[in-house]
Amino acid sequence: MKSEKVLVAGASGYLGRYVARAFHERGYLLRVLVRNSEKLATVGPNLEPAISEIVDEIRIGDATDQASLKDACKGIDIVFSCMGLTKPQQQVTSEQVDHLGNRALLNDALAHGVRKFIYISVFNGDKMSDVEMVSAHERFVDDLKASGISYTVIRPTAFFSDMGMFFNMARSGHLFLFGDGTNRFNPIHGADLAKVCVDAVENSEQEISVGGPEIFTYDETNIMAFKALGKQPWITHVPLWVGDAILFGTGLFNKPLASILGFALSVSRIDNVAPATGTRKLADFFRDMAASCS
Ligand SMILES: NC(=O)c1ccc[n+]([C@@H]2O[C@H](COP(=O)([O-])OP(=O)(O)OC[C@H]3O[C@@H](n4cnc5c(N)ncnc54)[C@H](OP(=O)(O)O)[C@@H]3O)[C@@H](O)[C@H]2O)c1
Repeated sequence: MKSEKVLVAGASGYLGRYVARAFHERGYLLRVLVRNSEKLATVGPNLEPAISEIVDEIRIGDATDQASLKDACKGIDIVFSCMGLTKPQQQVTSEQVDHLGNRALLNDALAHGVRKFIYISVFNGDKMSDVEMVSAHERFVDDLKASGISYTVIRPTAFFSDMGMFFNMARSGHLFLFGDGTNRFNPIHGADLAKVCVDAVENSEQEISVGGPEIFTYDETNIMAFKALGKQPWITHVPLWVGDAILFGTGLFNKPLASILGFALSVSRIDNVAPATGTRKLADFFRDMAASCS
Protein backbone atom coordinates (compact mmCIF):
# COMPACT_ATOMS: atom_id res chain seq x y z
CA MET A 1 0.00 0.00 0.00
CA LYS A 2 1.47 3.35 -1.03
CA SER A 3 1.22 6.25 1.37
CA GLU A 4 2.09 8.98 -1.13
CA LYS A 5 -0.35 11.83 -1.45
CA VAL A 6 -1.61 12.96 -4.84
CA LEU A 7 -3.34 16.18 -5.87
CA VAL A 8 -5.79 15.81 -8.76
CA ALA A 9 -6.60 19.22 -10.27
CA GLY A 10 -9.71 19.18 -12.47
CA ALA A 11 -11.18 16.25 -10.52
CA SER A 12 -14.78 17.28 -11.15
CA GLY A 13 -14.43 16.75 -14.92
CA TYR A 14 -14.67 13.68 -17.14
CA LEU A 15 -11.06 12.49 -17.01
CA GLY A 16 -10.34 13.87 -13.54
CA ARG A 17 -12.93 11.63 -11.87
CA TYR A 18 -11.52 8.48 -13.45
CA VAL A 19 -7.97 9.50 -12.54
CA ALA A 20 -8.99 10.30 -8.95
CA ARG A 21 -10.66 6.90 -8.68
CA ALA A 22 -7.64 5.11 -10.17
CA PHE A 23 -5.23 6.81 -7.72
CA HIS A 24 -7.52 5.89 -4.83
CA GLU A 25 -7.69 2.26 -5.98
CA ARG A 26 -3.87 2.11 -6.09
CA GLY A 27 -3.73 3.21 -2.45
CA TYR A 28 -2.69 6.86 -2.82
CA LEU A 29 -4.09 9.46 -0.45
CA LEU A 30 -6.25 11.73 -2.55
CA ARG A 31 -6.62 15.50 -2.44
CA VAL A 32 -8.70 17.10 -5.17
CA LEU A 33 -8.68 20.67 -6.42
CA VAL A 34 -12.09 21.74 -7.72
CA ARG A 35 -14.26 24.81 -8.09
CA ASN A 36 -17.42 23.15 -6.87
CA SER A 37 -17.29 20.19 -4.47
CA GLU A 38 -21.00 19.38 -4.87
CA LYS A 39 -20.33 18.06 -8.38
CA LEU A 40 -18.24 15.23 -6.93
CA ALA A 41 -21.30 13.60 -5.35
CA THR A 42 -23.16 12.86 -8.57
CA VAL A 43 -22.42 10.82 -11.69
CA GLY A 44 -21.30 13.08 -14.54
CA PRO A 45 -23.08 13.71 -17.86
CA ASN A 46 -21.01 11.04 -19.66
CA LEU A 47 -21.37 8.47 -16.89
CA GLU A 48 -18.09 9.41 -15.20
CA PRO A 49 -18.26 8.26 -11.58
CA ALA A 50 -19.20 10.20 -8.45
CA ILE A 51 -16.07 10.39 -6.29
CA SER A 52 -17.01 12.24 -3.10
CA GLU A 53 -16.88 9.00 -1.08
CA ILE A 54 -13.25 8.25 -2.00
CA VAL A 55 -11.73 11.70 -1.69
CA ASP A 56 -9.56 12.29 1.38
CA GLU A 57 -9.35 16.10 1.12
CA ILE A 58 -11.09 18.73 -0.97
CA ARG A 59 -9.42 21.98 -1.87
CA ILE A 60 -11.51 24.71 -3.51
CA GLY A 61 -9.70 26.84 -6.08
CA ASP A 62 -10.16 28.57 -9.40
CA ALA A 63 -7.46 28.78 -12.07
CA THR A 64 -8.45 32.36 -12.83
CA ASP A 65 -7.83 33.37 -9.21
CA GLN A 66 -4.22 32.34 -8.64
CA ALA A 67 -4.30 33.24 -4.93
CA SER A 68 -6.90 30.50 -4.46
CA LEU A 69 -4.33 27.90 -5.63
CA LYS A 70 -1.72 28.87 -3.02
CA ASP A 71 -0.63 25.89 -0.90
CA ALA A 72 -2.82 23.48 -2.87
CA CYS A 73 0.34 21.36 -3.19
CA LYS A 74 1.43 21.58 0.47
CA GLY A 75 2.22 18.05 1.70
CA ILE A 76 1.68 16.60 -1.80
CA ASP A 77 4.04 14.13 -3.51
CA ILE A 78 2.44 13.89 -6.98
CA VAL A 79 0.42 16.50 -8.89
CA PHE A 80 -1.84 15.38 -11.71
CA SER A 81 -3.56 18.17 -13.64
CA CYS A 82 -6.31 17.95 -16.22
CA MET A 83 -7.60 21.37 -15.14
CA GLY A 84 -8.58 22.86 -18.46
CA LEU A 85 -11.09 25.01 -20.27
CA THR A 86 -13.17 22.71 -22.48
CA LYS A 87 -16.44 24.64 -22.57
CA PRO A 88 -16.85 28.31 -23.38
CA GLN A 89 -17.11 30.53 -20.30
CA GLN A 90 -17.74 34.24 -20.62
CA GLN A 91 -14.69 36.37 -19.84
CA VAL A 92 -12.46 33.31 -19.32
CA THR A 93 -9.69 32.39 -21.76
CA SER A 94 -7.64 29.24 -22.42
CA GLU A 95 -4.56 31.31 -21.55
CA GLN A 96 -5.96 32.04 -18.08
CA VAL A 97 -6.90 28.43 -17.29
CA ASP A 98 -4.75 26.07 -19.37
CA HIS A 99 -1.55 28.10 -19.24
CA LEU A 100 -1.52 30.54 -16.33
CA GLY A 101 -3.71 28.50 -13.95
CA ASN A 102 -1.57 25.43 -14.42
CA ARG A 103 1.58 27.53 -14.16
CA ALA A 104 0.44 28.88 -10.79
CA LEU A 105 -0.14 25.28 -9.70
CA LEU A 106 3.33 24.33 -10.96
CA ASN A 107 4.91 27.19 -9.01
CA ASP A 108 3.10 26.00 -5.90
CA ALA A 109 4.30 22.43 -6.59
CA LEU A 110 7.90 23.70 -6.87
CA ALA A 111 7.56 25.70 -3.66
CA HIS A 112 6.39 22.59 -1.80
CA GLY A 113 8.92 20.09 -3.21
CA VAL A 114 6.46 17.96 -5.21
CA ARG A 115 8.16 14.84 -6.63
CA LYS A 116 6.41 14.68 -10.03
CA PHE A 117 3.93 16.69 -12.12
CA ILE A 118 1.74 14.86 -14.64
CA TYR A 119 -0.13 16.99 -17.16
CA ILE A 120 -2.73 16.31 -19.83
CA SER A 121 -2.15 18.10 -23.12
CA VAL A 122 -3.49 17.06 -26.53
CA PHE A 123 -2.40 14.61 -29.22
CA ASN A 124 -1.04 16.25 -32.39
CA GLY A 125 -0.50 19.50 -30.49
CA ASP A 126 2.30 20.42 -32.91
CA LYS A 127 -0.10 20.25 -35.88
CA MET A 128 -2.62 22.57 -34.21
CA SER A 129 -0.36 25.28 -32.83
CA ASP A 130 -2.53 27.97 -34.48
CA VAL A 131 -5.45 26.97 -32.20
CA GLU A 132 -5.50 29.09 -29.07
CA MET A 133 -6.69 26.27 -26.81
CA VAL A 134 -3.87 24.01 -27.99
CA SER A 135 -1.16 26.68 -27.85
CA ALA A 136 -2.21 27.58 -24.28
CA HIS A 137 -1.68 23.91 -23.33
CA GLU A 138 1.70 23.95 -25.08
CA ARG A 139 2.80 27.18 -23.39
CA PHE A 140 2.25 25.37 -20.11
CA VAL A 141 4.14 22.31 -21.37
CA ASP A 142 7.09 24.62 -22.15
CA ASP A 143 6.97 26.00 -18.59
CA LEU A 144 6.77 22.49 -17.17
CA LYS A 145 9.79 21.32 -19.16
CA ALA A 146 11.81 24.39 -18.15
CA SER A 147 10.91 24.12 -14.46
CA GLY A 148 13.29 21.29 -13.60
CA ILE A 149 10.58 19.21 -11.91
CA SER A 150 10.20 15.55 -12.89
CA TYR A 151 7.24 15.43 -15.27
CA THR A 152 5.17 13.45 -17.77
CA VAL A 153 3.04 15.10 -20.45
CA ILE A 154 0.26 12.82 -21.67
CA ARG A 155 -1.15 13.49 -25.12
CA PRO A 156 -4.48 11.74 -25.62
CA THR A 157 -6.81 11.67 -28.59
CA ALA A 158 -10.51 12.45 -28.12
CA PHE A 159 -12.18 11.19 -24.94
CA PHE A 160 -15.41 9.20 -24.98
CA SER A 161 -16.96 12.31 -23.38
CA ASP A 162 -16.52 14.08 -26.72
CA MET A 163 -18.39 11.19 -28.31
CA GLY A 164 -21.07 11.93 -25.69
CA MET A 165 -21.52 15.32 -27.33
CA PHE A 166 -22.20 13.63 -30.68
CA PHE A 167 -24.46 11.14 -28.90
CA ASN A 168 -26.55 14.03 -27.57
CA MET A 169 -26.86 15.49 -31.07
CA ALA A 170 -27.94 12.07 -32.38
CA ARG A 171 -30.51 11.99 -29.59
CA SER A 172 -32.02 15.17 -30.97
CA GLY A 173 -32.34 13.32 -34.30
CA HIS A 174 -29.94 15.42 -36.39
CA LEU A 175 -26.18 15.67 -36.18
CA PHE A 176 -23.94 18.39 -37.63
CA LEU A 177 -20.31 17.57 -38.35
CA PHE A 178 -17.46 19.73 -39.65
CA GLY A 179 -15.81 18.13 -42.71
CA ASP A 180 -16.74 15.08 -44.71
CA GLY A 181 -16.56 12.66 -41.76
CA THR A 182 -13.80 10.51 -43.26
CA ASN A 183 -10.95 11.43 -40.92
CA ARG A 184 -9.83 8.61 -38.65
CA PHE A 185 -9.23 8.65 -34.92
CA ASN A 186 -9.12 6.33 -31.91
CA PRO A 187 -11.10 7.81 -29.02
CA ILE A 188 -10.34 6.65 -25.48
CA HIS A 189 -12.48 5.90 -22.44
CA GLY A 190 -11.64 7.88 -19.27
CA ALA A 191 -10.92 4.70 -17.27
CA ASP A 192 -8.44 3.41 -19.88
CA LEU A 193 -6.70 6.78 -19.99
CA ALA A 194 -6.68 7.02 -16.18
CA LYS A 195 -4.59 3.85 -16.02
CA VAL A 196 -1.96 5.47 -18.27
CA CYS A 197 -2.01 8.60 -16.09
CA VAL A 198 -1.46 6.71 -12.83
CA ASP A 199 1.18 4.43 -14.38
CA ALA A 200 3.02 7.63 -15.38
CA VAL A 201 3.99 8.22 -11.73
CA GLU A 202 6.64 5.50 -11.97
CA ASN A 203 7.22 5.80 -15.73
CA SER A 204 10.41 7.55 -16.90
CA GLU A 205 8.86 8.59 -20.26
CA GLN A 206 8.39 12.36 -20.37
CA GLU A 207 5.82 12.41 -23.21
CA ILE A 208 3.19 9.74 -23.84
CA SER A 209 0.82 9.84 -26.83
CA VAL A 210 -2.18 7.61 -26.38
CA GLY A 211 -5.53 6.66 -27.91
CA GLY A 212 -8.14 3.95 -27.50
CA PRO A 213 -8.16 0.39 -28.90
CA GLU A 214 -10.48 0.99 -31.91
CA ILE A 215 -10.01 3.21 -34.96
CA PHE A 216 -13.06 4.83 -36.58
CA THR A 217 -13.93 7.55 -39.03
CA TYR A 218 -16.07 10.35 -37.57
CA ASP A 219 -19.02 9.16 -39.63
CA GLU A 220 -18.68 5.61 -38.28
CA THR A 221 -18.84 6.81 -34.68
CA ASN A 222 -21.83 8.98 -35.38
CA ILE A 223 -23.72 6.22 -37.13
CA MET A 224 -22.99 4.04 -34.08
CA ALA A 225 -24.54 6.70 -31.85
CA PHE A 226 -27.75 6.76 -33.91
CA LYS A 227 -27.83 2.94 -33.91
CA ALA A 228 -27.52 2.78 -30.11
CA LEU A 229 -30.57 5.03 -29.94
CA GLY A 230 -32.50 2.99 -32.51
CA LYS A 231 -32.66 6.05 -34.80
CA GLN A 232 -32.08 6.49 -38.49
CA PRO A 233 -28.78 8.39 -39.01
CA TRP A 234 -29.23 11.99 -40.16
CA ILE A 235 -25.85 13.69 -40.49
CA THR A 236 -25.23 17.05 -42.14
CA HIS A 237 -21.62 17.59 -43.15
CA VAL A 238 -20.72 21.25 -42.76
CA PRO A 239 -17.90 22.10 -45.22
CA LEU A 240 -14.71 23.20 -43.51
CA TRP A 241 -14.73 26.55 -45.33
CA VAL A 242 -18.17 27.26 -43.82
CA GLY A 243 -16.74 26.27 -40.43
CA ASP A 244 -13.86 28.71 -40.98
CA ALA A 245 -16.31 31.51 -41.80
CA ILE A 246 -18.34 30.72 -38.66
CA LEU A 247 -15.11 30.70 -36.65
CA PHE A 248 -14.08 34.08 -38.04
CA GLY A 249 -17.48 35.60 -37.20
CA THR A 250 -17.55 34.02 -33.74
CA GLY A 251 -14.03 35.27 -33.00
CA LEU A 252 -15.21 38.85 -33.45
CA PHE A 253 -17.70 38.76 -30.58
CA ASN A 254 -17.12 35.59 -28.54
CA LYS A 255 -13.48 34.62 -28.09
CA PRO A 256 -14.09 31.80 -25.55
CA LEU A 257 -16.51 30.08 -27.96
CA ALA A 258 -14.14 30.68 -30.89
CA SER A 259 -11.31 28.96 -29.00
CA ILE A 260 -13.39 25.77 -28.57
CA LEU A 261 -14.74 25.97 -32.14
CA GLY A 262 -11.20 26.42 -33.50
CA PHE A 263 -10.16 23.21 -31.78
CA ALA A 264 -13.17 21.29 -33.16
CA LEU A 265 -12.37 22.50 -36.66
CA SER A 266 -8.69 21.62 -36.43
CA VAL A 267 -9.28 18.05 -35.28
CA SER A 268 -11.75 17.64 -38.15
CA ARG A 269 -8.98 18.37 -40.65
CA ILE A 270 -6.52 15.63 -39.72
CA ASP A 271 -6.33 11.98 -38.73
CA ASN A 272 -5.84 11.54 -34.98
CA VAL A 273 -4.64 7.99 -34.45
CA ALA A 274 -2.31 7.61 -31.47
CA PRO A 275 -0.65 4.47 -30.05
CA ALA A 276 -3.51 2.29 -28.82
CA THR A 277 -4.23 1.19 -25.30
CA GLY A 278 -7.17 0.04 -23.20
CA THR A 279 -10.08 -2.31 -23.63
CA ARG A 280 -13.24 -0.23 -23.45
CA LYS A 281 -15.36 -0.16 -26.61
CA LEU A 282 -17.23 2.82 -27.96
CA ALA A 283 -20.33 0.75 -28.81
CA ASP A 284 -20.62 -0.22 -25.12
CA PHE A 285 -20.31 3.43 -24.09
CA PHE A 286 -23.11 4.44 -26.49
CA ARG A 287 -25.23 1.50 -25.28
CA ASP A 288 -24.78 2.63 -21.64
CA MET A 289 -25.54 6.25 -22.57
CA ALA A 290 -28.70 5.13 -24.36
CA ALA A 291 -29.76 3.02 -21.35
CA SER A 292 -29.15 5.96 -18.97
CA CYS A 293 -31.48 8.25 -20.89
CA SER A 294 -34.26 5.76 -21.66
N1 LIG B 1 -12.14 15.91 -24.04
C1 LIG B 1 -11.22 15.53 -24.92
O1 LIG B 1 -11.52 14.86 -25.90
C2 LIG B 1 -9.77 15.87 -24.69
C3 LIG B 1 -8.80 15.35 -25.54
C4 LIG B 1 -7.46 15.66 -25.30
C5 LIG B 1 -7.11 16.47 -24.23
N2 LIG B 1 -8.09 16.99 -23.44
C6 LIG B 1 -7.70 17.86 -22.31
O2 LIG B 1 -7.85 17.12 -21.09
C7 LIG B 1 -8.24 18.00 -20.04
C8 LIG B 1 -9.47 17.42 -19.35
O3 LIG B 1 -10.52 17.27 -20.29
P1 LIG B 1 -11.98 16.78 -19.85
O4 LIG B 1 -12.67 16.39 -21.09
O5 LIG B 1 -11.90 15.86 -18.69
O6 LIG B 1 -12.58 18.19 -19.40
P2 LIG B 1 -13.76 18.56 -18.40
O7 LIG B 1 -14.67 17.41 -18.19
O8 LIG B 1 -14.35 19.84 -18.87
O9 LIG B 1 -12.95 18.82 -17.06
C9 LIG B 1 -12.13 19.96 -16.92
C10 LIG B 1 -11.80 20.17 -15.47
O10 LIG B 1 -11.13 21.43 -15.35
C11 LIG B 1 -11.84 22.24 -14.41
N3 LIG B 1 -11.78 23.67 -14.69
C12 LIG B 1 -12.21 24.34 -15.79
N4 LIG B 1 -12.03 25.66 -15.61
C13 LIG B 1 -11.48 25.82 -14.38
C14 LIG B 1 -11.06 26.93 -13.61
N5 LIG B 1 -11.20 28.20 -14.05
N6 LIG B 1 -10.54 26.72 -12.39
C15 LIG B 1 -10.41 25.46 -11.89
N7 LIG B 1 -10.80 24.36 -12.54
C16 LIG B 1 -11.32 24.54 -13.77
C17 LIG B 1 -13.28 21.76 -14.53
O11 LIG B 1 -14.00 22.21 -13.38
P3 LIG B 1 -15.62 22.36 -13.41
O12 LIG B 1 -16.14 20.95 -13.24
O13 LIG B 1 -15.91 23.24 -12.26
O14 LIG B 1 -15.97 22.97 -14.74
C18 LIG B 1 -13.06 20.26 -14.59
O15 LIG B 1 -12.78 19.74 -13.31
C19 LIG B 1 -8.44 19.37 -20.68
O16 LIG B 1 -7.32 20.16 -20.48
C20 LIG B 1 -8.61 19.06 -22.17
O17 LIG B 1 -8.18 20.12 -22.99
C21 LIG B 1 -9.39 16.69 -23.63
